[in-house]
Amino acid sequence: MKLENPWKQNPWFESVAVAQERARKRLPQPVYGALVAGSERGQSVTDNQAAFAELGLAPHVVGQLPERSQATTVFGHTIGSPVIISPTGVQAVHPDGEVAVARAAAARGTIMGLSNFASKSVEEVTATGATTFFQMYWTGERDTMIQRMTRAHEAGAKGLIATLDWSFSMGRDWGSPEIPEKVDLKAMIRLAPKVATKGRWMWQFGQQFRQTGKLPDLTAPNLAPPGGEAPTFFGAYYEWMTTPPPSWDDVVWMRETWAQISGTPFVLKGVCRVDDALRAVDAGVAGISVSNHGGNNLDGTPAAIRMVRPIAEAVGDQIDVVMDGGVRRGSDVVKALALGAKAVLIGRAYLWGLAANGQAGVENVLDVLSGGVDSALRGLALSSTADLRPEHLLIPDGFDRALGVPAARSVGFGS
Ligand SMILES: Cc1cc2nc3c(=O)[nH]c(=O)nc-3n(C[C@H](O)[C@H](O)[C@H](O)COP(=O)(O)O)c2cc1C
Repeated sequence: MKLENPWKQNPWFESVAVAQERARKRLPQPVYGALVAGSERGQSVTDNQAAFAELGLAPHVVGQLPERSQATTVFGHTIGSPVIISPTGVQAVHPDGEVAVARAAAARGTIMGLSNFASKSVEEVTATGATTFFQMYWTGERDTMIQRMTRAHEAGAKGLIATLDWSFSMGRDWGSPEIPEKVDLKAMIRLAPKVATKGRWMWQFGQQFRQTGKLPDLTAPNLAPPGGEAPTFFGAYYEWMTTPPPSWDDVVWMRETWAQISGTPFVLKGVCRVDDALRAVDAGVAGISVSNHGGNNLDGTPAAIRMVRPIAEAVGDQIDVVMDGGVRRGSDVVKALALGAKAVLIGRAYLWGLAANGQAGVENVLDVLSGGVDSALRGLALSSTADLRPEHLLIPDGFDRALGVPAARSVGFGS
């Protein structure tokens, strides 16, 4: 009989915070630092989580229900739990990167948002069978955007997420981690002291190197021209920075172009204001994500959860309103739904899971969240997430942030 080591660390984790701690220990400091991110003084990234902690739940003592459902239909897809994978560039977290994330999304039956800055190609990601929504920034000439949309559609993408909120406000009071231009010998020697102590991470990438002869190359394969080479992360960033920002007419163009190419839903990510949500409806979008880009963008933008209710009240009956930013537990999901979101997107939570335990770690995070949703539903004596309402929460006065409310609409909104 083989003796199991009883002191071996259980790869399963009980909370996103535990996954984060494992990621911190496992990843080289610059990689971990890039995931923590935040911008300027970190006001928005901090508020994203702090605001969830201001909200309470109002449970019943008796009357809990034996059957509970958290299935929902969002952007035309029925998902078993209202938690979607938000697009992120996960370069260097794990050699399987977005492919591992997509496999986990497929295994748990949810939607996979794939960043145009991702380290894996859209073809590899859709091949996992995950329902994939391709995310694009407004970058490059229109012809280039058409080519990228066409490629995503031909690969089997089932929706487009346009992220248009980025304001290139990147300075951090705690300093930004170094990202090398290329992972070549020179960069490896310079970064060696930061990675040398990270045995498991080095071993994973070493194994990839032994199998494929490839190191993480920090390129953006989904931005490669047809038949050409993928640009480096910095090359792609430069194209983006030098592209004139879009107008609402451009949003309409993008939405119509995607409709002609694919006919699948178009989602605008990064909406913070009621007036913008109304314009997004006019532009014909299928949905919006209320988001401050995980607090990585214009610092001082309120926590996403504070902006959900005013926006959902204004447009939630016309389009699907989801939110992202600061979701770390099932009760956060429940709070977002009670305030009017149809589903939430998660970013860092699954990145911690990926770093901690690859595909199984991402599945673990999705399970932690759906377990938490179920527990909250039970406590609130509800049989379905569809029944969640603001009255199931304790909401402190002045919690909501209603930005850009047209004068005639201002009655009834929070501060
Ligand atoms: C490391 C990192 C990379 C990201 N990259 C992208 C991206 O390429 N495209 C995008 O739309 N959002 C990107 N985001 C934002 C996420 O999609 C999402 O809005 C945010 O992570 C939600 O906040 P949370 O991390 O607290 O869940 C990124 C976020 C992080 C942390």
